[in-house]
Amino acid sequence: AIDISTLSRQTGHTTLDYGFVNTSATKSAITFIDGDQGILRYRGYPIEQLAENSTYLEVAWLLIYGELPTETELAEFDERIRHHTLLHEDLKRFFSSLPYTAHPMSVLSSATAALSTYYEDSFDPSNPEHVELNTIRLLAKLPVIAAYAHKKSVGQAFLYPDNSLSFVDNFLKLNFGVLSELYEINPVMSRALERLLILHEDHEQNASTSTVRLVGSTGANQFSSISAGINALYGPLHGGANEAVLNMLAQIRESGESVQRFVERVKNKEDGVKLMGFGHRVYKNYDPRAKLVKESADEVLRELGVHDPLLDLAKELEEIALEDDYFQERRLYPNVDFYTGVIYKAMGFPTRMFTVLFAIGRLPGWLAHWREMQSDPQTKIGRPQQLYVGAPERNYPGIG
Ligand code: ACO
Repeated sequence: AIDISTLSRQTGHTTLDYGFVNTSATKSAITFIDGDQGILRYRGYPIEQLAENSTYLEVAWLLIYGELPTETELAEFDERIRHHTLLHEDLKRFFSSLPYTAHPMSVLSSATAALSTYYEDSFDPSNPEHVELNTIRLLAKLPVIAAYAHKKSVGQAFLYPDNSLSFVDNFLKLNFGVLSELYEINPVMSRALERLLILHEDHEQNASTSTVRLVGSTGANQFSSISAGINALYGPLHGGANEAVLNMLAQIRESGESVQRFVERVKNKEDGVKLMGFGHRVYKNYDPRAKLVKESADEVLRELGVHDPLLDLAKELEEIALEDDYFQERRLYPNVDFYTGVIYKAMGFPTRMFTVLFAIGRLPGWLAHWREMQSDPQTKIGRPQQLYVGAPERNYPGIG
């Protein structure tokens, strides 16, 4: 294989590529995207088929180990994860030191980083047994941390995981169960959430996954790398867009501004306002995930008995934008974040939990990339070049 970094060192050539629009930082066998055609496949399987037929853990296995699991493999994987859901009681106290107003994404990333302090065996990425154990710990504990971040923000007591339940049902109970009350799982909500999580499980070298890989390339453990990925996801141009979309829709509705007028403000770039949930670095066609989410939004809201005028507003926005030259010329279509928030809201999640749900969805992808990178003999520490444009050498004149 050609090692471009050696080649460029030898020839003295370097490229300047803001935002890495044209630069591949790695080879990967995990996810395929064709942005012009709107195609997304995990390990070769079309996202539409996985979303329809599989479960979150089945897809997690597929992403991490490369093939679909057998029934026995999946059952054992599920069982192992169920046995690691408990958080250390001391870690539970960590949440008390944070204000209840803390954004759940900040809570999630800091508690994930804090897991390192409990698992010393995570510091040896070359030990496959330890890597495996800490992969399982993350899959098991991140949803519990996420639910505690939620409970903390609404001032309710933390529940212990109920390991008689499936991964998604356990998560729902941890979020919406209240002490001493019997929590009844709503199968519509459970299946809808499972589908949404599957749609988020991987998306090749996006900003958060690249962050996980970059941090991991230094030899940092899975907890530190994934905590960094969560922070990258938090930004409104990335995973934070799902929260931003709902805030945008609510603002339009509250202000009484017409959708047409809002779109005009976006086109005129007034105050830098963007149509959140639209546009993508890779998709120059309809995001296949957004297509699936849009299809299920109506169905899920109907089945949950929720009518939300914000869904009508989102559809009106999409219709107007897709007809408009500005969006057509720039090939801007709805991305995965455009309709997810409306569904999460109907399920009862507060807006500030939306990106946390994205993070739980994306975790298997982050883990798969971290592991793929560790096992690739060509991996090097990530270290971009720069073009220096500052002052030439000059003498220090003293402070005068
Ligand atoms: N609303 C209005 N205009 C937009 C939007 C938008 N949502 N997205 C891009 N544009 C415009 C840009 O202003 C630019 O116009 P110009 O050529 O007149 O300057 C042109 O389209 C190209 O946009 P770039 O910002 O260069 O595209 P890039 O690939 O760098 O950015 C991004 C992609 C960040 C996703 C962008 O489309 C965006 O900010 N969208 C809104 C935020 C969002 O929804 N993010 C979620 C992405 S999906 C995910 O991370 C899960």
